[in-house]
Amino acid sequence: MTVTPDIPVIAIDGPSGSGKGTIARRVALALGWHLLDSGALYRLVALAAGRKGIAFDDEKSLALLAASLNVRFGSDQDGNEQIWLDDEDVTAAIRTEDAGIGASAVAGLQAVRDGLLGRQREFRQEPGLVADGRDMGTQVFTDAALKVFLTATPEERAKRRYKQLKGKGIDVSLPALSRDIEDRDRRDSERSVAPLRPAEDARILDSSSKSIEAVTQTVLDWASEL
Ligand code: C5P
Repeated sequence: MTVTPDIPVIAIDGPSGSGKGTIARRVALALGWHLLDSGALYRLVALAAGRKGIAFDDEKSLALLAASLNVRFGSDQDGNEQIWLDDEDVTAAIRTEDAGIGASAVAGLQAVRDGLLGRQREFRQEPGLVADGRDMGTQVFTDAALKVFLTATPEERAKRRYKQLKGKGIDVSLPALSRDIEDRDRRDSERSVAPLRPAEDARILDSSSKSIEAVTQTVLDWASEL
């Protein structure tokens, strides 16, 4: 596997529900580039820890787990993402709010972040990579050719998550979801380790009143200027 800094990266960071996952997928598809959903890795660590009975404050065991996760990313016949942990399809299991909250807890541990760093950088393959997360532009790919920080109002983000989860048949309440999003935002932004913030050279894009197509096009326009 070749990992080289010459391969271009587009980093798309932002808070939960800002639409970065959807936008990153569309941009990667349009460019024919690889995609890294870094949040899925933190969700996988939380899920695997829960199954193995490892506490979310057991930094040493969590770091070992993060570094040794046996994970495979793929897609089904319709192009929908599929994620396997060992031999189990965990695509749905990692998308629950619980997995998100667990992910946010383990993501606050430096040793876990270090354990996942090399794995994330391995996604940098020809012809290019679109990486989505919280610290793609500030930590993992500081030399990214384009850094986008995607935002949206907290109300809009809660609504989007609500629709997304309902669409997947997951039962949630909007007020509970708003609270979870607020808590997660606070934890992600206030933590001492890799806090959520735009890179100094990031371009800020507010998606609140914009369609998915319009936001995707803006990122593609910026990419074409590279
Ligand atoms: O993006 P997603 O909601 O799947 O991320 C789940 C959690 O993982 C986030 O709330 C955040 O705490 C953590 N995360 C992170 N760094 C990343 C991606 C996700 O800390 N690059």
